[in-house]
Amino acid sequence: MRNDTASKPETIFRKDYIAPGFWVDTVEMGFDLELSATHVATRMTMRRNHDSSEKDLVLFGESLKLLQLRMNGVNLKKSAYKIEGETLRIANAPDEVTLEIETLINPLKNTSLSGLYASNGNFITQCEAEGFRKITWFPDRPDVMAKYTVMLRADKKKFPVLLSNGNLIEEGDLGDGRHFAKWEDPFKKPSYLFALVAGKLVCQEEDYKLKSGRKVLLQVWVEDGNLDKTQHAMDSLKNSIRWDEERFGLELDLDRFMIVATGDFNMGAMENKGLNIFNTKFVLANPSIATDVDYAGIESVVGHEYFHNWTGNRVTCRDWFQLSLKEGLTVFRDQEFSADLVGTATGRAVKRIEDVRLLRQVQFSEDAGPMAHPVRPDSFVEINNFYTVTIYEKGSEVVRMYYTLLGHDGFRKGMDLYFERHDGQAVECDDFRAAMADSSGRDLTQFERWYSQAGTPRVKVDATYDAEAQTYSITLSQSCPATPGQAEKLPFHIPVAMGLLGADGKDIPLHSAAYEAQAGATSLVLELTEASQTFVFTGVSSKPVPSLLRNFSAPVVLEIDYSDEELGLLLANDSDPFNRWEAGQRLATRRLVKLTTAVQQGEELSLDSMFIEALRATLNDASLDPAFRELVLTLPSEAMIAEEFKVVDPQAIHTARQFARATITEHLRADLLSAYEAHLTPGKYSPDAQSMAKRGLKNLALSYLLEWSDESTFELAKTQFDEAENMTDRLAALTALTNFSGNDKQAKSAAKSLKAFYKDFKKEALVIDKWFMLQATARTTDVAKVRELMTHPAFTLNNPNRARSLTFAFCNANPSRFHAADGSGYALWAELVIALNKLNPQVAARLARSMDRWKKYPESLQAHMKAALQKVADTKKLSKDVLEVVSKALA
Ligand code: ARG
Ligand code: ZN
Repeated sequence: MRNDTASKPETIFRKDYIAPGFWVDTVEMGFDLELSATHVATRMTMRRNHDSSEKDLVLFGESLKLLQLRMNGVNLKKSAYKIEGETLRIANAPDEVTLEIETLINPLKNTSLSGLYASNGNFITQCEAEGFRKITWFPDRPDVMAKYTVMLRADKKKFPVLLSNGNLIEEGDLGDGRHFAKWEDPFKKPSYLFALVAGKLVCQEEDYKLKSGRKVLLQVWVEDGNLDKTQHAMDSLKNSIRWDEERFGLELDLDRFMIVATGDFNMGAMENKGLNIFNTKFVLANPSIATDVDYAGIESVVGHEYFHNWTGNRVTCRDWFQLSLKEGLTVFRDQEFSADLVGTATGRAVKRIEDVRLLRQVQFSEDAGPMAHPVRPDSFVEINNFYTVTIYEKGSEVVRMYYTLLGHDGFRKGMDLYFERHDGQAVECDDFRAAMADSSGRDLTQFERWYSQAGTPRVKVDATYDAEAQTYSITLSQSCPATPGQAEKLPFHIPVAMGLLGADGKDIPLHSAAYEAQAGATSLVLELTEASQTFVFTGVSSKPVPSLLRNFSAPVVLEIDYSDEELGLLLANDSDPFNRWEAGQRLATRRLVKLTTAVQQGEELSLDSMFIEALRATLNDASLDPAFRELVLTLPSEAMIAEEFKVVDPQAIHTARQFARATITEHLRADLLSAYEAHLTPGKYSPDAQSMAKRGLKNLALSYLLEWSDESTFELAKTQFDEAENMTDRLAALTALTNFSGNDKQAKSAAKSLKAFYKDFKKEALVIDKWFMLQATARTTDVAKVRELMTHPAFTLNNPNRARSLTFAFCNANPSRFHAADGSGYALWAELVIALNKLNPQVAARLARSMDRWKKYPESLQAHMKAALQKVADTKKLSKDVLEVVSKALA
């Protein structure tokens, strides 16, 4: 019999956690791999958990054909167990059980890309969070950890490579054209870390010597024809191994570590024990197909998955509500890894700014919408909907706050204690907090609210200077807006790193009675724990300019009234590079908000010279890292500007931002042109931080220059496109050309370049994704154009990368077009969500979230949005993934 998803999705609550009724000690699996009918035989030894209130033996399964179920050697009759939805219960099982289960599955028909599925003729698995239950009936929950032995059998010609977790202990021929491989994972693991891969693959491999002297085998597996694109992933893996040894004293615990790349993958990558499976996007790179951004993405995702081996695999999660225990911590680790690899102070700051930009743009928005949830959620309908920026990015900020509060060495001590206590266990976020508290002797009780309360706190600043007493007082008041299910919030424990600048822009030595031990320091971490607190600094001889929340020391919104002059001083001088950038963003945001209002009221638009001159000074300051200059010169995105408004007008925001860009170019043309020329990187492409920084600033200059219609800048971009020797420069030029508003001849020429690009890279799926994305986000691309692109032979909704490149990019990153007044963008969105729902619920639910903030738009748009949401909600056979998202939006 085949069981399918239950019709009425139920909400799962964290408070309902019950330990498993049975533990699993060993699992032996035999796979007879055939694309449309794979036979899975599982034999597991189980023993009763006497500490659990659950008396039944409970297994989970989904879309399985159950062929056999034997307990302690006896075939179980249908009456001996009960299947309800995804749950199978055996009552009155003895304390010691050997279960033998045979299931039949159809990987070819599995378009959800969860469980065992086919990708371009190969077998791939994805088991996190609950995909293992699509392979066999099993206590598929992360607190059940077992030792696995896996036998793979398949046709030798079609599936020459057979991989699973751990060590290869035996392989050979079966005589009938088939062969086998037997794998054994020496470590206990939860089922979500199980993996198998079978098919036609080739690998780059290397012996690598660990610090301890032990040798390990590293492999990067890809489809034939891609071996020229694996070096960067391999380098990133070696860097990751070394970094975790040096920074955290953590060694690779296996003899073999494999990475496999697949073109069909729902997310970025997966940390299966010893057999990481990656989206090709985060493995394949060479200078002609990958951009600097791609290179950086590969480095951080390879790092991320590798670091999971300790933070996730050796110590895992008790239940899925604890997801951020491993994800927040591992994101923090990958962010630190990338920052350490660059090495320089500004390099670190650049990485920090990029991470914060993402947090603010996507996570703050999530926190303000219908899907807002705490870092440790209290409930969910579908766990796959909770692989969110809150769990990952805000979770990382929470870990970073421990780091800020305890310091470098203090944090390391906490990590050491965490592993000492919990290696081999499935634990909770509270256990991590306890390790940090106990190792440092600090009271982190209140800190727990970062895990339990959703929403982005706001910290309001009031400061007064007393010239006579030479004191400067800063009053910080915190609040946090209501979120679904949480009307009232209690104060958070907020680290506020800060300094004070004198009129000369230099840091003033700080003296505050409350921080006596650090008297004379130029930067302090204030600890805000109450609703409102005043911090007094003494011996301040003139009114200073405060620099608060340095390095973005907490994930909050800082409300502070600076004058333009104060912001100018901070932008030019702050010793904290993050706050230098921040001051520039504040100057820009202020202007973009004013311009947007002016657009709405039909007033004349103008941009003041103070702002333009501040940008000019930054652009021309050769002492500054070009990557930092690029960040300062980049205006806040349309999505960021939208956050400043109660009611969002996407067209007005777009017009305002475009006006600002064109005006900046009008005034800085000569400076931009010299910046362009000064940062050319002739010669062989290299993905090192310095070269990347140069290309970044050069290409930003190019994009500004093309805001000004003239022949010479168009030719500049055209030449760069034609002569580019790497994808970074080629794509930047093509983007600029495509968005250029020039004459007919230029439009034709740009279209020709776009065509040539397609022709040149037809065989490179990841580049064709870029080709779609570039058009999806182009200024002139409207709904009709997207529909036309959807009929292109290279477009398909079946492949997540391709679906995302056109449709997600349009709905999420082309706001002024998506929010067309006639609602046509929303109608397209509804069609897409409904179509994807049938193919791949996880991907559909991601797209469904494009409508999260519908209540922030004018009523005329809201009506169209609500209708589109309702249309999706009313669709028959809606997955619980999509149902959860749209019903929360409509609630
Ligand atoms: N643990 C993976 C990572 O963070 C993400 C996998 C999530 N997959 C899913 N289908 N929910 O690296
Ligand atoms: Zn992760």
